[in-house]
Amino acid sequence: MKLTAFGEKFGGRSGIGELMDDLGQALRENPEMIFMGGGNPARIAALEQRFEEELEALLGSPDSRHQLLGIYQSKQGERAARRELASYLKRRFGWAVSERNISFANGSQNACFILYNLFAGEMADGSQRTLHLPLVPEYLGYRDIGLSRQFFTATKPTIELLGQQQFKYHVDLAALAVGPACGAISVSRPTNPTANVLSDDEVDALQALCAAHNVPLIVDGAYGLPFPNIVFGEATPRWNEQTILMLSLSKLGLPGIRAGIVVASEAVIEAFNNANSIVNLASSTVGPALLSQLLNNDTIDTLCQTVVQPFYRDRAAATLALLQRELAGLPCRVHKPEGAIFLWLWCDGLPIDSYQLYQRLKARGVLVVPGEDFFIGVEPDWQHQRQCLRLSYAAEPAVIAAGVAIIGEELRRAYQ
Ligand SMILES: Cc1ncc(COP(=O)(O)O)c(C=O)c1O
Repeated sequence: MKLTAFGEKFGGRSGIGELMDDLGQALRENPEMIFMGGGNPARIAALEQRFEEELEALLGSPDSRHQLLGIYQSKQGERAARRELASYLKRRFGWAVSERNISFANGSQNACFILYNLFAGEMADGSQRTLHLPLVPEYLGYRDIGLSRQFFTATKPTIELLGQQQFKYHVDLAALAVGPACGAISVSRPTNPTANVLSDDEVDALQALCAAHNVPLIVDGAYGLPFPNIVFGEATPRWNEQTILMLSLSKLGLPGIRAGIVVASEAVIEAFNNANSIVNLASSTVGPALLSQLLNNDTIDTLCQTVVQPFYRDRAAATLALLQRELAGLPCRVHKPEGAIFLWLWCDGLPIDSYQLYQRLKARGVLVVPGEDFFIGVEPDWQHQRQCLRLSYAAEPAVIAAGVAIIGEELRRAYQ
């Protein structure tokens, strides 16, 4: 079989694909594995119940069933849902948006693939543009998304050491240089994998930088603002004509329906819709229909504030406390948990790399994600990138406690 360059890049094996297969195989071989490796949201009974009711209402009559399952959405996506979302964003945050600033996608991963490749890659004149990540580590799912090679550039963060074995990354604004080859700047907020939440000031500074260089700022809000709002401190959603905000219903508990949302200038939305209809023909109707219902009386805000956010905040705090106990005395630190659904562990001076640690933990029945692959676009000699692990705390608390105890034991052995 002879593949194109596209075929080789997208149809071939990638390091991450192999890691995911390895995780999957380990789970198949031993279903009792302590799973702290995935990106699945937790099962939250109150949310499941609510979604069940909303879906039942949507499937209640032959007409509503037909609307949901029997027709393609238009290229722009269902108009009523776009209008309702625009009016919510206008009312809640004062953004100057209409339904023409909104598009639906089959998941935000899919939206991201299209958006990144609209702004980075080969330009019409043959020159190349890159996507700049102003703070790495960043979401693993970006790593292979570019149609061209040499797709990403990145700036290393500054590291603030905090008390109680914690630390925090900040955007290194002094080092952040945007050259003429930069096609767009992108961040996830809250950040997967670190649980960092860029401050409003950091986002304002990035918006100003993007305005000065006339490139878009792409903010991936899969965990955040305004929904599912898995943010534990103060942070406000930010948008302007030069900002492209990607949202998702996945981390609300609905990854199976593949519901992504793009909020952007009308010109960007038009380009996105054209590309989306080539790649996907149409987006799923289920996400917009559910979203419409959840926007009613701002139900989505109430659910996020009273169910989703407290759930993850409590889990993060409990898991952090366990890690602090198990790692006491070791040169390990946890990134301050500010949002998202993970904890990020930094083992300074670790004598083995994080892949080896991953293998040792797997052999002990604990699955985590080694940190290396999240360091997209940085130079290989930064030791820090081989010293980190991403831990999910979506599993049951007793399972997490057992996993953290084994992580502590293996780290003590590794440092001996
Ligand atoms: C930061 C981030 N962005 C985007 C996605 C993609 O989410 P989805 O395609 O389910 O909307 C994920 C999934 O884990 C994520 O962590």
